[in-house]
Amino acid sequence: MAFNSLNEFLDFLRRKGELKVIDVKVDAKLEITEIVDRTVKSAGPALLFTNVKGSEIPLVTNIFGTKQRMSWALGVQDLDAIGKRLSEMLNLKVPESLLGKMAMMPRLMEMAKFPPKVVKKASCQDIVINEKDVDLYKFPVTTSWPQDGGPYILFGQVVTKDPDTGVRNMGLYRLQVLDKNTTAMHWQRHKGGAMHFKRAKEKGMERLEVAVVIGSDPATMYSTSAPLPESIEEYLFAGFLREEAVELVKCKTVDLEVPAESEIVLEGYVDTGEDLRLEGPFGDHTGFYSLADYYPAFHVTAVTTRKNPVFVSTVVGQPIMEDDWMGYATERIFLPLAKLVLPELVDYHMPFEGIFHNLVFASIDKQYPGHAFKVMNGLWGLGQMMFAKVIVVVDKDVNVQNTSEAWWYALNNIDPQRDVVFSKGPHDVLDHSSQYFSFGSKMGIDGTRKWPDEGFTRPWPDKIEMSDEIKKLVDSKWKSYGL
Ligand SMILES: Cc1cc2nc3c(=O)[nH]c(=O)nc-3n(C[C@H](O)[C@H](O)[C@H](O)COP(=O)(O)O)c2cc1C
Repeated sequence: MAFNSLNEFLDFLRRKGELKVIDVKVDAKLEITEIVDRTVKSAGPALLFTNVKGSEIPLVTNIFGTKQRMSWALGVQDLDAIGKRLSEMLNLKVPESLLGKMAMMPRLMEMAKFPPKVVKKASCQDIVINEKDVDLYKFPVTTSWPQDGGPYILFGQVVTKDPDTGVRNMGLYRLQVLDKNTTAMHWQRHKGGAMHFKRAKEKGMERLEVAVVIGSDPATMYSTSAPLPESIEEYLFAGFLREEAVELVKCKTVDLEVPAESEIVLEGYVDTGEDLRLEGPFGDHTGFYSLADYYPAFHVTAVTTRKNPVFVSTVVGQPIMEDDWMGYATERIFLPLAKLVLPELVDYHMPFEGIFHNLVFASIDKQYPGHAFKVMNGLWGLGQMMFAKVIVVVDKDVNVQNTSEAWWYALNNIDPQRDVVFSKGPHDVLDHSSQYFSFGSKMGIDGTRKWPDEGFTRPWPDKIEMSDEIKKLVDSKWKSYGL
């Protein structure tokens, strides 16, 4: 089931008892964070605050804050179902027969079947606020943590167009509100928006137009965070997830398109010649404060909204937080794409305490000496996997979703000097420990069983396992033990 708007999803959550409306007056400064932090860590509901101090607009948060809600948001019961759809689509073994070939066509078309559609009129433009009346402080913008540099729009879906190709990008980047019509634009150097900005500057363009969507249908909201290759637009991917095209509308003052069912849209530009502005510090999803740094300013030249818009926000900090479930969805959905390049990959897992880029477990069907190292190098070469600081490779029968099992297996199997490699590469901008800013070292751990042709000539012990016969016997007598 695809949701066409945020409202449709919120209604669904309400019916499921997964949306709690809070009418008590709350402060967007720190108080909301503490409420959300306690709620998300106890797998509690999405929260709709109707009475935020200083704003007439309600704020919703924690909508993706459990595995169940993240799955519902993408119209599935189980996130692996999406991965399965992708892997069926990507299974490109061409059949011999003509009929077989024809039967493949619909599968191949699956991704392109739901391209976004541009409509003329949209509810997200019911209200249009012109440049001189823009006042971002009218929105319930939150200040999350005590040392934050100010209030931040935390669910801004930032739309730009590649100045060379015209391909659209939508990335989820935080926006620190600097004054009533200016924010900082925190697109990190490796991300799509930053690339567009760099290209615009190189081409001598004075401005890069930007639209920021705050709240849309949930599949598009999620797609904004997904690590898609530059050539695949988030709107197309959202259409694939929803199995229904995303309707777009042209912005009022910039040449960009936004989802017709958006709640709030900020239209404006980033000036390529302007001095960068100090952004941060910000209590980040690493669980530490990101230091203040310089980023471009986003000038808001118009705001459009629905008649009764809802402002969406999130809280990031020490896990578990809402963004962990978004990252988990990415892990599951993108596994078949990783397997396309690394077919020996059985599964991978990024435990929440590893903040995605700090730790990746990978299980492989080991075929030749040194295979674990090939997989580490392959993963480090895959899109945003380039940020992975530590990769631990184990054999195919290990359930990497169970981090305790994965560590147990790997730690038993390693002789550190022999099985650990150090490499170098880009680090996530948020990594505060890297040797240089966004560049540092990586560690790969080969936790697989070692082979004679890898130099291990002593016998390798079996894992302890009870025989099926005894398991069945104990099953059949279990009740009689009175346990
Ligand atoms: C809640 C949340 C906040 C994020 N904030 C930022 C941010 O401020 N800057 C950034 O570059 N990436 C941020 N990200 C990560 C990007 O959205 C993510 O890497 C995405 O794939 C970027 O898309 P792009 O490659 O199209 O730019 C955030 C992700 C989430 C889930």
